[in-house]
Amino acid sequence: MGKTLAGKVALVTGGSRGLGAAIALRLAHDGAAVALTYTSSPQKADEVVLAIESAGGKALAIRADSADVEVVKHAVAETVNTLGRLDILVNNAGVATMALIDQFSMDEFDRLVAVNIKGVFVATQEAIRHMGEGGRIIMIGSVSSDSTAFAGSSVYALTKGAMPTAGCANASFTRGLARDLAPRGITVNNIQPGPIETDMNPAEGDFADGLKKITALGRYGQSDEVAGLVSYLASPEAAFVTGANLKIDDGFTA
Ligand SMILES: NC(=O)c1ccc[n+]([C@@H]2O[C@H](COP(=O)([O-])OP(=O)(O)OC[C@H]3O[C@@H](n4cnc5c(N)ncnc54)[C@H](OP(=O)(O)O)[C@@H]3O)[C@@H](O)[C@H]2O)c1
Repeated sequence: MGKTLAGKVALVTGGSRGLGAAIALRLAHDGAAVALTYTSSPQKADEVVLAIESAGGKALAIRADSADVEVVKHAVAETVNTLGRLDILVNNAGVATMALIDQFSMDEFDRLVAVNIKGVFVATQEAIRHMGEGGRIIMIGSVSSDSTAFAGSSVYALTKGAMPTAGCANASFTRGLARDLAPRGITVNNIQPGPIETDMNPAEGDFADGLKKITALGRYGQSDEVAGLVSYLASPEAAFVTGANLKIDDGFTA
């Protein structure tokens, strides 16, 4: 049987580590050629590219800070110029800073907004210039925008809440885009992971123990589990799914 994404090209922002690396590997496994961006881990990014190439796939690592508008535009152009087209954008790159509101600096606030919101907007706007029928925009949001179980996450929740389709006052980007892009056959969906074991959110320690206590299954998720959901949304099978907000959170918000 043919691979579901054969002939497609995907761009995964923040694909050097964690969720993004697992997503890049999974989309390549499904047959897509994959470009991935990174900022500070060239070696990790190269390892992902090498793993894809060793398995017979095609991949490209691009240093591109999602906070920099021109750099993001260039990353999209480089993807299309090198891999020939663009069918799937996964807006995964994200940063998290946890601090109480009275200790949150303006610089840090600006950085979270630039990466988690502006970077998503620019990548999406640029990517859709190249997408046609069957295009896919997949956001990696967070359950934090629906439920904040601990203090210190207000700004992170604010920025991740810009993407979901529900549960937040300014939760309209995915929903609005789904309406904008449906006439062109492009779907737009948001994934809301709960606690997933990555550098951003290690599965051991006091913080992790607290989170495990409030999930239904009592464990952290693995990046591969989120990548499986991305794989489904990217596939032709998911053509009827758009404007959706899909939780993969171990019952965190149940
Ligand atoms: N882990 C969780 O529990 C969890 C839960 C819900 C949602 N999420 C979301 O899932 C996404 C990935 O999280 P993660 O846990 O995999 O994080 P991570 O382990 O910290 O990895 C972050 C990835 O994003 C890249 N990145 C960071 N800042 C960037 C920037 N300014 N421009 C481009 N790339 C950048 C990093 O590249 P470098 O290697 O070059 O630094 C790395 O590849 C984020 O959007 C996060 O908010 C995570």
